[in-house]
Amino acid sequence: MKNLVVLTGAGMSAESGISTFRDAGGLWERYPVEQVATPEGYAANPKLVINFYNERRKQLLSVQPNKGHLLLAELENQFKVTVITQNVDNLHERAGSRNVIHLHGELTKVTSSLQPNNPKFIRELRPENYEVHWGDKADDGSQLRPFIVWFGEPVPMIEKAIEYTESADIFVIIGTSLNVYPAAGLLNYVRPGVPVYLIDPKEVKVTSGHKINVIRKGASEGMEELKNVLQKEFV
Ligand code: APR
Repeated sequence: MKNLVVLTGAGMSAESGISTFRDAGGLWERYPVEQVATPEGYAANPKLVINFYNERRKQLLSVQPNKGHLLLAELENQFKVTVITQNVDNLHERAGSRNVIHLHGELTKVTSSLQPNNPKFIRELRPENYEVHWGDKADDGSQLRPFIVWFGEPVPMIEKAIEYTESADIFVIIGTSLNVYPAAGLLNYVRPGVPVYLIDPKEVKVTSGHKINVIRKGASEGMEELKNVLQKEFV
């Protein structure tokens, strides 16, 4: 089976009703990014940050994977699929994707404020316990914080993402403005000659030597088109 590696961003979940970040009306227009998505913002007002992610987590209970997520999961019948996502929601998993790398963390998990990347302290929350309170402690006694990679923090999963990207026989990009590094740089690790597809309803500026096959559609319609193309060309 061919290795199909897919990089996804907020646009992947837009049709499920989760806001993107940089589109008009996006999250970063409504919440100051330095307040809710940086270590400095967390240090300045931890309660506000904890609540912001409680709200995001609560939203998971009312949204469903969209057709794009489902079609992507179905491709596992014909390809060895790796999903590298910048999204912190769990919609790829809920759609059935089995190999998902979360570059920017996961809403459903919490960790230590002192050692956020120490696996000893990372905990998965059950839906009935999605609300984290100020005063809830990690096993090292520090305040429980969201398991989210904030701006300015290391991105430990990038190493694994690079390895998969280097092994890709087909590379697909869905619903990301490619503004945020290191995720946006993954395309540089795709081997020369590997077909690259990009699904996005808007124009995305891509700087790379690869020829990009652009499918200018939303995630669901775009995935339908991609599925047909892949079936014709690679199965
Ligand atoms: N289907 C596919 N793509 C869509 C759809 C849709 N229905 N609607 C919007 N898009 C596209 C937009 O055109 C845009 O190119 O999704 C992209 C969303 O871009 P951003 O909002 O910048 O989101 P993303 O690229 O995922 O952001 C990267 O930035 O703030 C951080 O950590 C956060 O992981 C996030 C990272």
